[in-house]
Amino acid sequence: MSAVRIAVDGPAGAGKGAVCRAVAQRFQMPYLDTGSIYRAVGLLSIRSGQLDPEKLARAAQVMDYLFKDMGDGSFGAFLGGENVTTELRQEATGERASQVAAMPQVREALLAFQRTYGAGGHRILDGRDVGTVVWPDADLKIFLTASLEERANRRALELQAKGEAVSVQQICDRMAERDARDSGRDHAPMISAADAVVVDTTHLTLEESIEQVVRLVEPLVGG
Ligand code: DC
Repeated sequence: MSAVRIAVDGPAGAGKGAVCRAVAQRFQMPYLDTGSIYRAVGLLSIRSGQLDPEKLARAAQVMDYLFKDMGDGSFGAFLGGENVTTELRQEATGERASQVAAMPQVREALLAFQRTYGAGGHRILDGRDVGTVVWPDADLKIFLTASLEERANRRALELQAKGEAVSVQQICDRMAERDARDSGRDHAPMISAADAVVVDTTHLTLEESIEQVVRLVEPLVGG
């Protein structure tokens, strides 16, 4: 069977990460959270104070980034060998990531890494433009979404569990702003590919969301 590429796109908080981790583990295939590489560039930008698109694109091209299966159901992110998993998930990093992700030079610099990730076997990537720009000819495209309110609730619970004090309203406002920036940018905006299967998880549990996606993946990669 030839190598199957699965593209999962959608807004923050729709469940992409949890669903893709489960699918990757179930079918034993490499997984890349492409948002995490934009977050890594965002972190480089915060640490250096750099906001120049050309300079950030160069930094993105040479950064030593690793997204690794930790073997306990979680994935870790490493920048130059440093474990930056926690820092990447912080709201401030996400905000900066959304800014650097709007820079065409940065997006271009990260394309080759995404396109060749896990080459040689089945693989799954999630993000905003995997099915439209990174792999326009992916074997399966899924657009995973949920209502803004539900996504904000989920993210607030996640952050509260980590001890970050946040209000749902605050998250909702920031999410709406970030959605608008991700969808409204000229270069590679977040949109569902015309040939994507839309999975709305608003009224689904995580297990049900995983099951729906597994049902789409299984016929392609075998049980
Ligand atoms: O999914 P996330 O919140 O970790 O993504 C962080 C930011 O990166 C988000 O604002 C959107 C952007 N992003 C993108 O533009 N393209 C991708 N393929 C993935 C993420």
